[in-house]
Amino acid sequence: MSGSGPSSSSGRLGLRVEKLCKEYRSGDQPVTILRDLYLNLSAGENAAIVGPSGCGKSTLLYLLGTLEHPDSGTIEIDGQQPHLMPASEAAKFRNQSIGFVFQEHHLLPQLTVRENILLPALAWGAIAASTEQRADFLIQRVGLDHRRGHFPGKLSGGERQRVAVARALLLHPALILADEPTGSLDEANAEAVTDLMLEMQQEAGSMLLCVTHNPMLACRFQRTLTLRHGRFEP
Ligand SMILES: Nc1ncnc2c1ncn2[C@@H]1O[C@H](COP(=O)(O)OP(=O)(O)OP(=O)(O)O)[C@@H](O)[C@H]1O
Ligand SMILES: [Mg+2]
Repeated sequence: MSGSGPSSSSGRLGLRVEKLCKEYRSGDQPVTILRDLYLNLSAGENAAIVGPSGCGKSTLLYLLGTLEHPDSGTIEIDGQQPHLMPASEAAKFRNQSIGFVFQEHHLLPQLTVRENILLPALAWGAIAASTEQRADFLIQRVGLDHRRGHFPGKLSGGERQRVAVARALLLHPALILADEPTGSLDEANAEAVTDLMLEMQQEAGSMLLCVTHNPMLACRFQRTLTLRHGRFEP
């Protein structure tokens, strides 16, 4: 295998979440979203997150992705606790160790497919040759070699999400967070993108947590975690 291709998960640590709490305020009233939530994921493992609308699935992903701060509790990702880091260090950790795939692709319309995939590396100035090779590998892997110079506006919804998956994997993140990544796709594309995302996550040895409302898709993951009343059902 080349350095730009699949990598081993050996040496990677998992995800450990303990006693995680988060509340929002609604007017004067605190509303508890997550209450003493526990979660363990091993390196290379994947899981679907399901649960009723408003139960806190996106909130949990924002917390794990360091986009929101917990009220209390521990989040350890690959041996690091980003919420204890200064903001600039946490941003660097987020960029290098966490990949995001959202329901809407969040691709930049003025950049080509290849440039969008390289975006996470742009934060570090000059892009290493190995990162360019990695991007080319990923473009092929998601079946978009013929589209590498195209702009997102010219792609189908499924193609855009495949670009988003490739971008999320560019820097070999320890953890990929996907929030209803196939929510805007038809059934056939939703299945294809889910299977591709799972295959690529396994090849990369990353962990993957994916929120979905679709039970047919949830059952493709190694585990299904049901969030209810602020924590995962046993
Ligand atoms: N920034 C915020 N301020 C106040 N309340 C919020 C905020 N973000 C989310 N909430 C509330 O927290 C609860 C959980 O929201 P969240 O988006 O995590 O749910 P969800 O499980 O992802 O729902 P869905 O399946 O509809 O996407 C909701 O009641 C929501 O209104
Ligand atoms: Mg949500």
